[in-house]
Amino acid sequence: MRFPPAFLDEIRDRVPISSVIGQRVAWDRRKTNASRGDYWACCPFHGEKSPSFHCEDKKGRYHCFGCSVSGDHFKFLTELDGMSFPEAVEKIAEMAGVPMPVRDEREERREKERASLTDVMEMATAFFQERLQGPEGAKARAYLRERGLTSATQQSFRLGYAPDSRNALKEHLAAKGVPKADIEACGLVRHGDDIPVSYDWFRDRIMFPIPDSRGKIIAFGGRALAPDALAKYMNSPDTELFHKGNVLYNFARARKALAKGGTVIAVEGYMDVIALAQAGFENAVAPLGTALTENQLELLWRMAPEPVLCFDGDKAGMKAAWRAADLALPAVQPGRSARFALLPEGKDPDDLVKAEGPDAIRAVLADARPLVDLLWMRETAGGVFDTPERRAELGKTLRELTSRIRDESTRYHYQQEMREREQSFFGSQRGPRQGRQEGGRPGERGQGKAPAPGGQFAKGASGRIAITESLGQSALVKRGEGMSVREATIIVALVNHPALIDENFAHVEFLDLANSDLRKLHAAILDAMAHDAADERGAVIATIERAGCGGIWERAVALIKRARQWPALETAGLDDARDAFNQALHLQRSARTLHRELKQAQAALDADPSDENFRHLVEIQAQFNDVQATEALIEGFGVSSGRVGRV
Ligand code: UTP
Ligand code: MN
Repeated sequence: MRFPPAFLDEIRDRVPISSVIGQRVAWDRRKTNASRGDYWACCPFHGEKSPSFHCEDKKGRYHCFGCSVSGDHFKFLTELDGMSFPEAVEKIAEMAGVPMPVRDEREERREKERASLTDVMEMATAFFQERLQGPEGAKARAYLRERGLTSATQQSFRLGYAPDSRNALKEHLAAKGVPKADIEACGLVRHGDDIPVSYDWFRDRIMFPIPDSRGKIIAFGGRALAPDALAKYMNSPDTELFHKGNVLYNFARARKALAKGGTVIAVEGYMDVIALAQAGFENAVAPLGTALTENQLELLWRMAPEPVLCFDGDKAGMKAAWRAADLALPAVQPGRSARFALLPEGKDPDDLVKAEGPDAIRAVLADARPLVDLLWMRETAGGVFDTPERRAELGKTLRELTSRIRDESTRYHYQQEMREREQSFFGSQRGPRQGRQEGGRPGERGQGKAPAPGGQFAKGASGRIAITESLGQSALVKRGEGMSVREATIIVALVNHPALIDENFAHVEFLDLANSDLRKLHAAILDAMAHDAADERGAVIATIERAGCGGIWERAVALIKRARQWPALETAGLDDARDAFNQALHLQRSARTLHRELKQAQAALDADPSDENFRHLVEIQAQFNDVQATEALIEGFGVSSGRVGRV
């Protein structure tokens, strides 16, 4: 009889292996440490005088360093005592005080059936593969070639073609003696009371065989060749072998690839997985046409502690990402989280790797954000937090979110992190200061223009100003523009106050700057970080000079002075510098998002000039205008190089 693996695990877990082995050997008192569950004895499998046989309760295994035998409870009893496996199981179950499972004949029969169904699936796979190479497959071959899949890739994923016929597969299998019931049980035909003659499930489609965790084919995905097909992709129905929500495409291969290191990447489609594999990323998997399920998330965590989930950078993609974030959140714990990678402008990984090569994928993966970022973004994006009530509301939402985390210490750290983010988001909570800290040069700001607490927020009608993640495109963020005050503030504050580098380690590492000169300074800062020279201003500046960027540094500082961004300068106090830096960083990160949204909305409208798309664009533009108004309120940010004097 086959024992359910869960039963074997349970009894093995309940019985310390030392109590099984201890019945047959005498432990060596000197080497044994019973309180740690660590036992030594002379090996019962080969004669010896000094103990080299070891067993460990925590691992539930034994090993002899003399004769190399090793195994678990059952192996010990079968090898040393010559018991049969069921006898060994019975003995351990008795020691564990667990009753033996009743023999489940139905389950055993089903097991046999499953085995015969996988044989049928294997025959179908081979059939589709053959057809792809045959005359009917010409169109499909051309299609795959056009999509850039080499024949080696096609073969390793066992791609195939289902001919445009209602019974080609059905008859092929019947001719090989496969009973009708099996063909139906495999989900290879449509059948039922209202269908007089069953017919092939997949017709005129590129076939993607879906292997289980051992590599056996359990289902298919089929991509339509005809552009007017009802569904672009179709999967096998759920069967005895296949439960869509419990399977990840490419699981077995990806797991194997992970042995070489790296983490697992979850993407949306078959083609993404295959294109990535062809480009050298063999560690990608995909759900099967549904949003990620809890079971699939479990599978990902079985592969790696921090899977990277990839989503389109468009609205639907963001929604999917948030959904996945909500799914993952309750289950996060030490060694169990996720990162989220957003792809540029509605491109999927397949498009991206084809257009820009593996480096573009690497860049997207390197840019993946932790779960906490994604949640924060969602809760703050587009929000206006200009009243205490609204800020309290945000705090409440964040507390509710974090309270869903089941693991206590993780929950605690999330709560702490969210509080910190709120604090820096809304600016300093300190009261108005009298005058500036030393070096702040209050005189230069002019009478009646005393800086707001926190340095950067204009004190005015609305007090603190919301910085939303969808602030926007402005002259300050467009690529290829001159040096912007905002970006210069970020860099100059970092260099002048290296404590900020340390405090904002992760942000600094992934800064995305529009200006190429400032990017050079950023690179120098990273270089200094890499060489542990980033904790002292002089050392950072020396690194900048060594990189030949002294001139750029001077220009950046000059811009900051012209824009009256004193808090970024060396002479300002660290608190002021920190406020200026946080402000600029938030705006910067937000601006990138809105910039992308605007471009997408424009493209959507160009492609489909519907009312809805038009309204969407107007909406984003309105947000953008808000942002510019916000920026105008913030002293200094209204200025960019060449356009000084707007303050
Ligand atoms: P996409 O529409 O993003 O397709 O669906 P794709 O993977 O980029 O495919 P190509 O590049 O056009 O060939 C992503 C995944 O969603 C499922 C499939 O699993 C697909 O791989 N899907 C999509 C369906 O199940 N049915 C559909 O009609 C469309
Ligand atoms: Mn695609």
